[in-house]
Amino acid sequence: MANHTYHVRSPGRVNLVGGHTDYAGGHVLPFATDLHTRLDATPDDRVTVRSEALGEQRSFDPADREPTGSWVDYVKGCYAVLAEAGYTPGGFTGELAGTLPLGSGLSSSASLELAVLALLNEAYDLGMDRERMARLGQRVENDFVGVSCGLLDQYAVALGRAGHALSVDTATLDYEPVPVPDRIGLVVYHTGVTHELADSAYNERRATVEAALDAVGVDSVQAVGADELDALPDEQNQRLGYVVRENERVGRATAALRDGDLEALGEVLVRAHRDLAANYEASCPELDHVVEAALDQGAYGARLTGAGWGGAAVALVDVADADEVARSVHDVYRDRYPEHDARSYLVTSSDGVSVERTGR
Ligand code: GLA
Repeated sequence: MANHTYHVRSPGRVNLVGGHTDYAGGHVLPFATDLHTRLDATPDDRVTVRSEALGEQRSFDPADREPTGSWVDYVKGCYAVLAEAGYTPGGFTGELAGTLPLGSGLSSSASLELAVLALLNEAYDLGMDRERMARLGQRVENDFVGVSCGLLDQYAVALGRAGHALSVDTATLDYEPVPVPDRIGLVVYHTGVTHELADSAYNERRATVEAALDAVGVDSVQAVGADELDALPDEQNQRLGYVVRENERVGRATAALRDGDLEALGEVLVRAHRDLAANYEASCPELDHVVEAALDQGAYGARLTGAGWGGAAVALVDVADADEVARSVHDVYRDRYPEHDARSYLVTSSDGVSVERTGR
């Protein structure tokens, strides 16, 4: 075993629609991106990881369960949740690199978790399937890092398929790939804004939505009726009302994607963004500016992707126009926010996490 080197490719994700529905038992429609994390590693006694992007190396014993408050917790947390689940893999020495920008709302953390879990699964023959790895990735966030996220990111990263988006019902965990027509171009525009309070705002929204579902007496947003919504106190009504509408939008977006109807899909994205901004208050002026700029430049639709409060927006365009739209949006954005380090990416859908092995 010690002579093998493992090459892991773990994608990021873009969520087309279904924002903040995944922790309320709703539907989501993400895809895994060609922007990815790479982890090249050999089994070892300790865990030693170097991050090319951060220029840092961290080392720990696989039995060490102490969070450090740094990026290495996404690696350490994998060992902690694996131990909880009855697995005790050994360590590895590895190098993290790739094309996925960190902290941009494109799931760099889920991508890292799944890279580590997939590596350990292969190198130490743990026999886990992709769904199990995705659920353990979520546990790393919930139990070790302290972010109460749903399963959206980990499902997309583990189960994505090239040429497809992934329709997931987070109440049943059923999923189905939905083909993405070739003429669809997706531009991801990172605003360069990282909202420091995003994690606490996220946890606070989740708590409000869970309290609202409790008050209605159901587990899933799919079972909430209009009368029950009306009976809720104002804040719960506002937040859960958004989630109910967003969940319905996923159905419309999935149908539009299947029909290759970019106009209809674009319209859903814009409505989703505006609702998320007005009623879930998860946007920020920079994201709103990008969305409006993308629409002015001819995009079919655009919306923030990921949790919000900063990070990235995704714009839906004809693939032939993608470069031009990205450039024009950049010009408009830079004029308004010259202080932010904004970047755009043309993304395509990709397969979920994969591991190759070389050496004897
Ligand atoms: C983050 C979380 C996901 C999901 C989105 C919002 O990406 O990790 O679980 O809730 O925000 O849709």
